[in-house]
Amino acid sequence: MSERFSFTLNATDGAARTGVIHTPRGDIRTPAFMPVGTAATVKAMMPDSVRATGADILLGNTYHLMLRPTAERIAALGGLHRFMNWDRPILTDSGGFQVMSLASLRKLTEEGVRFSSHIDGSKHMLTPERSMEIQRLLGSDIVMAFDECPALPADDKRVAESMQLSMRWALRSREAFGDRPGHALFGIMQGGVTQELREESAKALVDIGFEGYAIGGLAVGEGQEAMFGVLDYAPGYLPQDRPRYLMGVGKPDDIVGAVQRGVDMMDCVLPSRSGRTGQGWTPRGAVNLRNARHRDDPRPLDEGCGCPACRSYSRAYLHHVVRADEIIGSMLLTWHNLQYYQDLMQGLRDAIAAGTLDGFVAHFHAQRAEGDI
Ligand code: GUN
Ligand code: ZN
Repeated sequence: MSERFSFTLNATDGAARTGVIHTPRGDIRTPAFMPVGTAATVKAMMPDSVRATGADILLGNTYHLMLRPTAERIAALGGLHRFMNWDRPILTDSGGFQVMSLASLRKLTEEGVRFSSHIDGSKHMLTPERSMEIQRLLGSDIVMAFDECPALPADDKRVAESMQLSMRWALRSREAFGDRPGHALFGIMQGGVTQELREESAKALVDIGFEGYAIGGLAVGEGQEAMFGVLDYAPGYLPQDRPRYLMGVGKPDDIVGAVQRGVDMMDCVLPSRSGRTGQGWTPRGAVNLRNARHRDDPRPLDEGCGCPACRSYSRAYLHHVVRADEIIGSMLLTWHNLQYYQDLMQGLRDAIAAGTLDGFVAHFHAQRAEGDI
């Protein structure tokens, strides 16, 4: 195992890429989907089960962990990997984006953002320097630069000023991160849906120099068509030899479209969160297990899935435990959804390696068009 952080590109198919990110804690096969473990847990899943679905890396959140149980407490207990019993790579988001969506009484200045906790109202300050310190205390393998992003639609002036602030914060993040072999710092591109701003942002980040580059500020209300519009050009502004991470995306068809356009990493709460509300994702689309049509159905949720929910239980059972609000309903559907996402990523990786991505994507859309049976 390499003791340094590196990225090997193995094959391309059109703009799509497949490769491996090497870290001291293990390899990450790309395109990669990162399950979200916001509060030091992928909700309703044991870490071994998350690994069993094929996940190579998890996402954690600076914002939540700094408030509870605090980064200092996690550091004293041996770091986030040991604390949550996950010894493979962890990427942590930097906090600014979550402050803007979750905290109250936010005050944004050049220095950073002051806010009140959504948990107990206590006052806190996040700056690029403090975010780097928290992510170091957590022991994160892939650290995200500190940024902020306006909800879309927003006028161009507001998007430009916000992007330029995030670029000044990216430089401060780089300087505060320091030299940490085996750990990576990713810059985050902003600029809304404006091509010139995306290009300006990418240039600023590439000038600073990062181990990887994220595309931020998408899936914030602009819609899939506008998001794909940005992804038609944005990855092209980034270096070929560094991983590209599309933050907070998405639904299965968003993921397929993003991979087709050259994205290497993604994360989203959707598979885990929707599992806890009784939704199961299959190649034929989303299935609502609360629906009465499943009440007497002895068939598995998805014939082709190897997860415990599909191997050992009927739709009728899943319907029952979801309706009865039993905890196992959340457990089984979260496992299934994470399995579906990881199987989709494996299919994408294999298709890119074989040069058959177009056929894979055509089949993906054809199956969804048929609908659930
Ligand atoms: N998660 C989803 N979008 C973003 C973004 O633009 N910035 C950060 N830091 N996290 C995100
Ligand atoms: Zn399944």
